[in-house]
Amino acid sequence: MAIPDQVVQKVAESKFLTVLTGAGISAESGVPTFRGQDGLWKNYRAEELATPEAFQKDPKLVWEWYDWRRGIVGDANPNPGHEAISRLEKSAPNFYLITQNVDGLHERAGSCKIVELHGNIWKMRCVKEGTIKTDLTVPLENLPPHCECGALLRPHIVWFGESLWPDSIETAFLVAEECDCMLVVGTSAVVQPAASLPLVTKRAGGFVVEINAEPTPISDMTDSSILGKSGEILPELEYLVSKRK
Ligand code: OAD
Repeated sequence: MAIPDQVVQKVAESKFLTVLTGAGISAESGVPTFRGQDGLWKNYRAEELATPEAFQKDPKLVWEWYDWRRGIVGDANPNPGHEAISRLEKSAPNFYLITQNVDGLHERAGSCKIVELHGNIWKMRCVKEGTIKTDLTVPLENLPPHCECGALLRPHIVWFGESLWPDSIETAFLVAEECDCMLVVGTSAVVQPAASLPLVTKRAGGFVVEINAEPTPISDMTDSSILGKSGEILPELEYLVSKRK
């Protein structure tokens, strides 16, 4: 789908550009999204595994799922969509990237100003002490992993039913309010509070552009909804914006 000229103009003239991403941005890197057939693992849905209750009941099963995802993410590389976002950051006067993804691919593509709303798959946290450590081992030995203190380690990820970390959610809402243009990329926009960030931008008078393989519940409230693959649309948008500047 062609990129409307108004979108190119708004992004090029933006004084504060924000990008909100979801699992779709990493789909072309081979990382499965959460919803849809690809998101299933051994017939479990993400909502059945990414919860404190699931971890309490069967920590090994939950860790097996994360170990599987860590293996996929470890083999994956940033795609042209991640790279275009990193270039947009370099040319924008003011920029923030808010991601729901835990795969770390944005950072590997060179993005710097990032809020990882849902955590990071390479980090684990002691359930007793709350200490956080980074562990890049794939596959993990002896699931579920334990802290040196003897307690269980859990993924440092925000699960369903848990509150987001105050620092990251405060930053995200502030950025959504203050930016004048937001690109919403590859998210089904059904998980709160991330799904309300584009509405905050819209209400504050900002221009909201959605880039997604299919329409979502927020498509109608956006100023422009571009249907297609983010790995194709974002590089083209970034190129057109760079010519306009
Ligand atoms: P979803 O799996 O819900 O949605 C992925 C979206 O990406 C869908 O709307 C697809 O249409 C779109 N998509 C797929 N391939 C695409 C492509 N190549 N280009 C553009 N769009 C594409 O993922 P999220 O919205 O990120 O939470 O899910 C939100 C949260 O739910 C996740 O952060 C995760 C999950 O449970 C936690 O892990 C805590």
